[in-house]
Amino acid sequence: MTNILVISSSAAGDASVSAGLIASFIDAARAAAPSARIVMRDVGTQPLPHLSPASLGGLRGEPATEVERQTRAVSDELIAELRAADLILIGAPMYNFGITSTLKTWFDHVLRAGETFRYTAEGPEGLLTGKRAIVIATRGGLYSDGPAAAMDSQEPHLRTMLGFIGISDVSFVRVERLAMGPEAGAAAVEAANDALRDLAARAA
Ligand SMILES: Cc1cc2nc3c(=O)[nH]c(=O)nc-3n(C[C@H](O)[C@H](O)[C@H](O)COP(=O)(O)O)c2cc1C
Repeated sequence: MTNILVISSSAAGDASVSAGLIASFIDAARAAAPSARIVMRDVGTQPLPHLSPASLGGLRGEPATEVERQTRAVSDELIAELRAADLILIGAPMYNFGITSTLKTWFDHVLRAGETFRYTAEGPEGLLTGKRAIVIATRGGLYSDGPAAAMDSQEPHLRTMLGFIGISDVSFVRVERLAMGPEAGAAAVEAANDALRDLAARAA
């Protein structure tokens, strides 16, 4: 049985393009693999708390306060979801050239030394090997080609963080030019739907 963890991170609610594409992927994955287990974690509509002086100790060493214990419990739960997944589908809107702050906060909770990576004499080593990820990267502009390519801090950051914990098999579905006219946007969504249908069939 395939375990799929879905992370959504748009602040746009029902108007979110990435959320719509995630829904299409899930429909296709359920058709291809009816027994697939799908766990949803929407940090866009239900944001995790940012780390603060009161909570940071929950991620390092032994939690000593109630807030630190709560933070550790949330982090443990998120990491358990990640460990159980064979495939991680991430909806990643581009906000100000990078990922949303809500998605970054999710990574802040799951990149934990001794749990998802460890330091060795040869350097850091990712511990979540054997998994695949698919990233739906929605963008108003065009970054895969042309003059804005150097401004893309979304895809390299995601590749780095996922790779750091051992997830290097990552497929990016870039949904670009969403703010460059209705025709360009509709074509991008249609192409993304096609790509996601293929990826969902392979997820079975
Ligand atoms: C706060 C904010 C910042 C944005 N910054 C960028 C940006 O830097 N570059 C870009 O191409 N699009 C930018 N956009 C456009 C979004 O990437 C686009 O609306 C996309 O559809 C968001 O994904 P979603 O529909 O799933 O929320 C921004 C949108 C918002 C709301």
